[in-house]
Amino acid sequence: MNERTIAVLTASDAGARGEREDTSGQVLREGLARVGRVVASRIEPDDEERLVAVLRQWVAEGIGLIATTGGTGLGPRDVTPEATRRVIEREVPGIAEEMRRVSASITPFGMLSRGVVGVAGQSLIINFPGSPKACRELLPVVLPILPHALDLLAGRTHHH
Ligand code: MTE
Repeated sequence: MNERTIAVLTASDAGARGEREDTSGQVLREGLARVGRVVASRIEPDDEERLVAVLRQWVAEGIGLIATTGGTGLGPRDVTPEATRRVIEREVPGIAEEMRRVSASITPFGMLSRGVVGVAGQSLIINFPGSPKACRELLPVVLPILPHALDLLAGRTHHH
């Protein structure tokens, strides 16, 4: 069986300037290591073109799961969903819906994350909110479905 590969992209102006520790990226790297191998990790400013370029590069490399954190809110520099939409070919609304449902059940501010989930090539892209707290709360939502989702994407479709 092919190995499941994972890449984590943190969208943060302060993080990219080195002014803030990438705690959310670390939470995602640790949590997602349960379903695959984290092979790449980047911090980029909240710049749509930069984010699109990194996402496209990882899709071209055939990364199985691309998790982003940050830039999903309503601020003028929050452009991660827009970048993600430019890269994905198919949306996976059920994952984003469940993430938002769980978030909103924890805090009403969960409604403010515009995170998108979709497929590009053989990659599944998931937008997480920017806070480490949100990432910790949302990992248990996606972890149970990720192995099967990533296997389907990779064409490992045989059932037992
Ligand atoms: N989701 C969960 N589960 N827990 C949270 O604390 N914070 C919300 C929301 N989603 C939050 C959450 C807040 S306050 C914002 S502003 C949005 O995510 C967007 O965050 P981002 O712009 O850092 O991506």
